[in-house]
Amino acid sequence: MAVKLVAKPGEVEFPKGMEGVIANESRKSYVNGLEGKLYYEGITIQDLAEHSSFEETFFLLLYDRLPTADELAILKHRMTQYRNLPNEVYELIESVSAGYLAKPMSVMRTAVSMTALFDEAAEEETEAAFEREAIKITSRMATIVAAINRVREGKPIVQPRADLSHAANFLYMMRGEEPDEFDTKVMDVILVLHADHGCNASTFATLVVTSTLADMYSAVVGGISALKGPLHGGANQRVMKMLNEIGSADNVENWLADAVAKKKKIMGFGHRVYKAMDPRAVILHGYAKEVTKRAGTEDWLVMAEKIEKFMIEKLGQKGIWPNVDFFSGVVMSSMGIDDELFTPIFAVSRAAGWTAHALEQRKDNRIYRPRFVYVGPATQEYVPIDER
Ligand code: ACO
Repeated sequence: MAVKLVAKPGEVEFPKGMEGVIANESRKSYVNGLEGKLYYEGITIQDLAEHSSFEETFFLLLYDRLPTADELAILKHRMTQYRNLPNEVYELIESVSAGYLAKPMSVMRTAVSMTALFDEAAEEETEAAFEREAIKITSRMATIVAAINRVREGKPIVQPRADLSHAANFLYMMRGEEPDEFDTKVMDVILVLHADHGCNASTFATLVVTSTLADMYSAVVGGISALKGPLHGGANQRVMKMLNEIGSADNVENWLADAVAKKKKIMGFGHRVYKAMDPRAVILHGYAKEVTKRAGTEDWLVMAEKIEKFMIEKLGQKGIWPNVDFFSGVVMSSMGIDDELFTPIFAVSRAAGWTAHALEQRKDNRIYRPRFVYVGPATQEYVPIDER
């Protein structure tokens, strides 16, 4: 069917925001939005959160199957080898993060991009090199975010350790002390839950860059840039801002009724694909109970549960339910993590999905090149500047 490509504004119907448009085939993950289910390679997110680890999930996404014990040990070893950063990148982070000068997502975007400049293999065009870069970048993102956190807190940067898991080492570098088993498990679950999610905005951005055959760092920087916005990964941070603004459970109903009446978007709710409960929110809600109890921050959970109840009652039938960002803020804040770090931590995890999708795209690539409907003037004369 011929599509009209020159038209009046509004004349040609199209799915705004590419809603429902099929961008490609992929075997990495499937979001069943109507039933509120999420699978990586056919395995439910509940099973992965309970039984797997970030490293194993990363293997699954990269190679489309679960690893043997030896294969997992090799991937873990490769990830630990790449944990350190070039000195120049640590210096960059120190120079811009101190005194809360620059926002962590911006520092992260620049630090990942800068790391490429010191990686001789960054532009090597072999399948082995792309795979190596995927592992290298995913491993290093945690070091970058932890270093940003330390400098913001006015504390010395902590070098990575090779004897800890990805989640434990990340918390160790963030805090300067080894985390206990519970905190390690919670961070691991956060990383597993955020690792992939179908054709979301940041993964699509990564794939648009990849489809031009640009290098893996450039593709990941594209992903970070897209994740940064409040409609995507930036929402978790705003959930905590909202809780602080509401102040107490008694104020929830008034605050929300006013916000809904004013047609404000409530952060941590709604999703392009889920029209039911986001299963990741259910898992994080479960962890929030124990985390807030340990931290003595049960008030946040009480408030969050009241907001959830109100929103489901008022807007559930419209398909607006809590998404992953709603409880992740409560969990991470209770673990003592600054809210500016929430989206960078999302990126630490999503790097697994971005790079796995980039490798998949490269195996059967075609450049992404859609069209616009042109709604400008048909023709017009060029008017010299002194005659305008
Ligand atoms: N609060 C109140 N109303 C909402 C919300 C919300 N959070 N989300 C959607 N709606 C309403 C819209 O106002 C709109 O109503 P209308 O039809 O009466 O105009 C309707 O639901 C459809 O919303 P759209 O914004 O068109 O849905 P879209 O699929 O384009 O956007 C999005 C999805 C961006 C996630 C949206 O729900 C939103 O802005 N949510 C808040 C931000 C957020 O939590 N983002 C994180 C998403 S998960 C993630 O990226 C990890």
